Amino acid sequence: MNLSEAFQRVRDHSLNLCSHLITEDFSLQASEEVSPPKWHLAHTTWFFEQFILVPNDPSYVVKHPQFNFLFNSYYNTLGARTARNQRGLMSRPSVDEVKIYRAYVDGAMKKLIEKNIPVISELVILGMNHEQQHQELLITDLKYSLWFNPLNPSVMDIGEYTPEQESTWVSFDSEIYEIGHIGDDFCYDNELNPHKVYINDFAISSGLVTNQEYLEFMEAGGYDDPTFWHDEGWAWSKELEVKAPMYWEQKDGAWFYYTLDGLKPIDDAAAVAHINFYEASAFASWKGVRLPTEFEWEVSQNKFEWGKRWEWTNSAYLAYPGFKVAPGAIGEYNGKFMINQMVLRGSSVATSEGHSRPTYRNFFHPKYRWQFMGIRLAKSL
Ligand SMILES: [Fe+2]
Repeated sequence: MNLSEAFQRVRDHSLNLCSHLITEDFSLQASEEVSPPKWHLAHTTWFFEQFILVPNDPSYVVKHPQFNFLFNSYYNTLGARTARNQRGLMSRPSVDEVKIYRAYVDGAMKKLIEKNIPVISELVILGMNHEQQHQELLITDLKYSLWFNPLNPSVMDIGEYTPEQESTWVSFDSEIYEIGHIGDDFCYDNELNPHKVYINDFAISSGLVTNQEYLEFMEAGGYDDPTFWHDEGWAWSKELEVKAPMYWEQKDGAWFYYTLDGLKPIDDAAAVAHINFYEASAFASWKGVRLPTEFEWEVSQNKFEWGKRWEWTNSAYLAYPGFKVAPGAIGEYNGKFMINQMVLRGSSVATSEGHSRPTYRNFFHPKYRWQFMGIRLAKSL
């Protein structure tokens, strides 16, 4: 597949994800953290327009002078933008107009891609990866917004909950390991600069923590015992009166969760999802073990299956040695978020095909739960 075909495939996939939505769904934004599907479709298009077409194609005419204001996400270098919590208020442009915007940018992009300019091809690949990230957000944001609808709408079946294999401990010896991305294939700047890390003897669980295990934690009073919790996590759970993962609800003594395929009884054998770092860490403490570091995860990942849940690690999201922020607006991609966030490794049932690798570093603030986040345990030996 050449770059032009790969580009179109990524672009088509975003629209395909929306194939079962009704027009009203496209503008849903139930909180500041989530964005409406229409905004994701437009913002990913804006990315190609602003980062590739405007600086590199003198003949390109921007589709609309105000789209830069409407669809810029967080790039301060590119000027003012609409408030994040007001993305759902934009009933204009319409869904159809956003689709026309997408097709307009796609046409211009394909002409540029055909010129085969290496520096532009690199940016196109970054833009495709950016869009794949937004495809996952489109799914998880939509799940969050639809959750507020008492009708429990069913819009897609992505296999959110499937049974886990029985878990065992896999041991690793103390050694100096190489961490970071090696090779010429695409990775983000935050994975670059392979470097050595000394890791002490440890063991990691081959399976993810299941709903059944998490339920045991809940029923054992895990949410009510401060000894398992970070102070910040304890304050969070008490303030919001959290007693279960996000999307869980109890009816007549039985637990259910909302999925994008409607409300379902919980599957005991499936990996728990939608817990935040505080909960993952408290669960591990209750078990008498801990979460893996991102380095332990990376060196052990080929010994277990991963890909159903973003797995919380006990590593703060920090720069690797030699990390450099790219010049210009594109430099706002990763580096500026290296504060107050924890690293998650792996990928999830909502991750787009071809958008995962062992060195991938996802990151979120410890309080967030709306991604498909799960728990893998580790222990020092
Ligand atoms: Fe973005």
